[in-house]
Amino acid sequence: MTDHTHPHETIVLATPPDAVPPDAIALAANLLRAGEVVAFPTETVYGLGADATSEAAIRRIFVAKERPLSDPLIVHLAAATQLAGVTRDIPPEAERLAERFWPGPLTLVLPRLARIPALVAAGGDTVGVRVPAHPVAQALLRAADLPIAAPSANRFMHTSPTTAAHVLADLDGRIACILDGGPTMVGVESTVVDLTSSPPRLLRPGGVTLEALRAFLPNLYAPEYAQNAPHCAPESAEPSHAPGQMARHYAPHTRLVVFDAMGAEALAAMRALAAEAQARGERVGALAADEEAATLEDAGVRVARLGPVDDLAAISRRLYAALRELDAAGLDLLLTHSFGRQGLGLAIEDRLRRAAGGSLRTV
Ligand code: TXA
Ligand code: MG
Repeated sequence: MTDHTHPHETIVLATPPDAVPPDAIALAANLLRAGEVVAFPTETVYGLGADATSEAAIRRIFVAKERPLSDPLIVHLAAATQLAGVTRDIPPEAERLAERFWPGPLTLVLPRLARIPALVAAGGDTVGVRVPAHPVAQALLRAADLPIAAPSANRFMHTSPTTAAHVLADLDGRIACILDGGPTMVGVESTVVDLTSSPPRLLRPGGVTLEALRAFLPNLYAPEYAQNAPHCAPESAEPSHAPGQMARHYAPHTRLVVFDAMGAEALAAMRALAAEAQARGERVGALAADEEAATLEDAGVRVARLGPVDDLAAISRRLYAALRELDAAGLDLLLTHSFGRQGLGLAIEDRLRRAAGGSLRTV
């Protein structure tokens, strides 16, 4: 039988981060060296990896995800010492940022070396690179001894996976292997900084906060993410300055409304919109902080709890699982609100905005 859309029996191998089994890593590394795609956990989200030096292997990522070739991939390295194998030039800022934030959730866009096919970079002459902090990702990268191109391991436009079950839900039968390292620790993707533009530019907020970055890169340019400009994020459906940064992304299938408010104001707005929808016979869900859950449940809203309202690390860790959980619950409308723009709040708000189709709802 030749079924090109389901070319694989997907095998799932348990790889607990505190006791990474060498045989599972060796098997996955051999698959990567043979040009297959393998999903693996990073500290942010699960990635779908392939040999970043092989155009044929990279093509398999795009096919499995149904991702357009215009969306560039991040290349993962075991250590910063391997940078010279993927980039033509290592600017001093890259050295300083790598020293401070790697291994960790920071991607640096640098001039691409010809050894890395243009397909990785959507045809451009740059390459996004990072060294992930997850023990399973580290073990796999060292065993494969290759730079590994890996986007998030979800179908294109869908919510990123933070567990192996999420990967299986999107890609079962489309990829050779999934390494199951349990839920990821950060929960939102890496921060992407373009060091090929002057001044350096923030392309995507993520696991490393803008505040932490600015301490090392005071001239970092981030117009869409200015602290006091909540409405100026890119709202066009065009890929903007950052290729692959679509206004709609990370999206559940169920309609999602995200209020540009916090605290009592946000709760009141969510309850009012829930009541309107319920009056039309609709079933409503909400992503909410633990402290907000009871008020919403009293109003007949199904709640996915994200964590304590002041614990942004917990909220980002739970965000995508909560979105997927509610999306699978057969509801008609999902509600949530911004958790501010400080620290990880900026990445959380960015993902929620895109999951809602591009904008926040003012109250
Ligand atoms: O945390 C993460 O970054 C995860 C894990 C698996 O490492 N990966 C991830 O990859 O989120 P992906 O493909 O879902 O998002 C990569 C995004 C692209 O959509 C694009 O916006 C930006 O990173 N990017 C990558 N390479 C770039 C380049 N050469 N120039 C500009 N932007 C780039
Ligand atoms: Mg992605």
